Amino acid sequence: MDPQISLVLVTGATGFIGAHVVDELLRRGIKVRATTRSLAKAQQMLRDRPEHASNLQLHVIKDLATPGVFDEEIQGVDGVIHIASPLIQGETDNERKVLIPAIEGTKSVFEAAKKHPSVKRIVLTSSIVATLDPDRLSDGSVTFTSKDWSPITYEEAKEATDFFITYRGAKKFAELAAWDFMQKEAPHFDLVTICPSVCFGPVVHPVSKTSELNFTTSILWDVVAARGTDPLPDFELRAYVDVRDVALAHVEALLRSEAGGQRFIISSPEKFSGQLLADILRKEFSWAREEIPKGDEGAPVPEEAGFEGQTGARVLGIRYRSLQTSVLETAPQLRELHQKEGLASA
Ligand SMILES: NC(=O)c1ccc[n+]([C@@H]2O[C@H](COP(=O)([O-])OP(=O)(O)OC[C@H]3O[C@@H](n4cnc5c(N)ncnc54)[C@H](OP(=O)(O)O)[C@@H]3O)[C@@H](O)[C@H]2O)c1
Repeated sequence: MDPQISLVLVTGATGFIGAHVVDELLRRGIKVRATTRSLAKAQQMLRDRPEHASNLQLHVIKDLATPGVFDEEIQGVDGVIHIASPLIQGETDNERKVLIPAIEGTKSVFEAAKKHPSVKRIVLTSSIVATLDPDRLSDGSVTFTSKDWSPITYEEAKEATDFFITYRGAKKFAELAAWDFMQKEAPHFDLVTICPSVCFGPVVHPVSKTSELNFTTSILWDVVAARGTDPLPDFELRAYVDVRDVALAHVEALLRSEAGGQRFIISSPEKFSGQLLADILRKEFSWAREEIPKGDEGAPVPEEAGFEGQTGARVLGIRYRSLQTSVLETAPQLRELHQKEGLASA
């Protein structure tokens, strides 16, 4: 039988994935206690969802690194979806600003849940970066699965000058902290971890400028706004998934009893490149033909390892949206945001 879930704590709820998770829960009539550090974002989340006012609570919390940060928020909840985690470009204090908040924030969720018998399950957002070995990433014959773990060390993540290397370590060590807790403490709740690939899709969280977009949406935005850029913007990871499928995966992971104790990669079999994003947009939109460089139109996506997203899709009941759907449904929204931002600053 599925666990009875009526109130869920969602951390990172005002972020790109978090807001979709909140909406997926609310759509099902499940009450949400959502956390953010920002009062302004909390107020905006509520203003954007007036029909859910009675089912949506917003709690302003301190930084994830604060001891006991979730002690109050956890009270009375049946489940937790822990999404909050830092990804900071240009940060030099990797340990204090990225690694410690990611790892200690995760431990705080588990320590808080341990004291509350009402908590039945924790769903933790990890990432494919916690599974991949960068030395094998360019090998198209490799498929990473949920049994794989990144070989990155804590020291490498701490000393890295590339923010994405630090991020890879933060995701790995935060997820490991969760599984270690489960093994050592054998608590009354169980754990599911979700490892999404690069998420694109509509933005439903509070964002007023393109510079505030989350990191992966900014990858798509860079192509949408790639006026005259040569070569086209691109990214080192090519595995894609729609954010709405990721949100669905989190909620199903919370509700389906058979998901308990498992780690799922959530990734469409499709891969992307900056060129493919440009091709999709240029084929559909006249503005894109005028503004986005043609580049090497039709060039295949460079070979890269795959990520086994079918098990997660099967167990959690996900049918992955196509890259084309995701891109075409998001790009106009990003342009509109940019136009509004221009009007606001005029
Ligand atoms: N987007 C992707 O493609 C992708 C793929 C795989 C995994 N993920 C994972 O999914 C999660 C959400 O990513 P996202 O793309 O939705 O990012 P996002 O929009 O930047 O959201 C991240 C959230 O984490 C919270 N947060 C960050 N640092 C914090 C700190 N030090 N203390 C407290 N809260 C903090 C932020 O809350 P505030 O409202 O307080 O700022 C924000 O709401 C992350 O765990 C990320 O690693 C994302």
